[in-house]
Amino acid sequence: MDPRSNPYAPGAGVPPPELAGRDDLIERVSIALDRVHAGRAARGFIFHGLRGVGKTVLLNRIRLDAEAQGFASVKIEAPEERSLPALLSSALRTTLLRLNRSQAAKMGVAKAMRALASFSKALKVKYQDLEVGIDFEPEAGIADSGDLDSDLADLLTAIGTAATERGTAVVLFLDELQYVPEEQLSSLIMAMHGVSQSQLPITMVAAGLPQLLGLAGRAKSYAERLFEFVAIDRLDSDAARAALVVPAAKEGVDFQPAAVAEILKQTLGYPYFLQEWGKHSWNVAAGTPIKAADARRATAEALAELDASFFRVRFDRLTPAEKRYMRAMAELGSGPHRSGDVAEVMGRKVTTVAPVRNGLIAKGMLYSPAHGDTAFTVPLFDGFMKRIML
Ligand SMILES: Nc1ncnc2c1ncn2[C@@H]1O[C@H](COP(=O)(O)OP(=O)(O)O)[C@@H](O)[C@H]1O
Ligand SMILES: [Mg+2]
Repeated sequence: MDPRSNPYAPGAGVPPPELAGRDDLIERVSIALDRVHAGRAARGFIFHGLRGVGKTVLLNRIRLDAEAQGFASVKIEAPEERSLPALLSSALRTTLLRLNRSQAAKMGVAKAMRALASFSKALKVKYQDLEVGIDFEPEAGIADSGDLDSDLADLLTAIGTAATERGTAVVLFLDELQYVPEEQLSSLIMAMHGVSQSQLPITMVAAGLPQLLGLAGRAKSYAERLFEFVAIDRLDSDAARAALVVPAAKEGVDFQPAAVAEILKQTLGYPYFLQEWGKHSWNVAAGTPIKAADARRATAEALAELDASFFRVRFDRLTPAEKRYMRAMAELGSGPHRSGDVAEVMGRKVTTVAPVRNGLIAKGMLYSPAHGDTAFTVPLFDGFMKRIML
């Protein structure tokens, strides 16, 4: 069929034509945000899950809904190179400028702007990538100690007060949370803890890879009280079916049940793969309905394309020893696997291959869901490893 009208949307952060299977969670978050707005107790959220399960698009959907409801959102994406204070100061600046726009009293907003100027100035030496805003003069005595913990607490308090004055609530949306260095994350959590105790209307909805669960140190116990940790996973079969058939139906195209079954079997309900398979099925099919044979051709094409790009770029980052480790894991299936079992497949001692495993974890290829267990962070990677290393 005509690729021009193909409704599917494979790609990191690309909104799907049908956001399937997340309604309950979206509603839970919406309730929590409304409670925060009303000055009631509610926990924020931390979504964790593998690449391609739909964390970013879910976070964006929740943010757009919240903005439509009048919440002041703060959008922060943590890339590997920038410090959290730098990311926060530029994102918060945008939020404050937006809060500053309307006409009513804005003492609180101006004060928060000055707190932000202090914050940026005080931490500039420690975090070189901070830009000092020129909108306002720093305010002496607020957020200017140079200690991230207390300055962030001051800053969030000033922003929470400004939000109260404006009759709104501030929601921090933080994606790729796993890239935030632990001590900076810990400061953020401590600061959030402070504002939640003074019942200021600020909360956070964040997302990241499953290694976030390993979040350690003093931040951990606070984090568990402040945030609900929600696993974002593959879609169950009803939701996976909806992700596939609803977008086509809107274009007047049906799927034969056997075609849906083939796609669910191959993708295991992983959202990114559903989009890929949907896209290829559409392109190979002659017309409606999309048949089982079309879905099988889509499997061949989707795998060829993923092997050449999505999987391949990750594979190319590995050293030969890391490739052998991943291949041994794949031999055991999709996982998680015991480190001892992987070592055994390799005919090596656990202690000898431990550095390789650690390297793979540092590269974000593997994570440890429980002590001594190892799993792929990219779904279906086991099948790829078997295809590429016979
Ligand atoms: N609930 C869903 N239903 C259908 N497609 C989805 C869903 N969630 C995500 N997708 C699709 O999956 C892909 C990956 O989504 P993304 O949010 O980037 O994942 P993550 O941030 O977890 O790596 C995108 O192509 C997106 O359109
Ligand atoms: Mg993402």
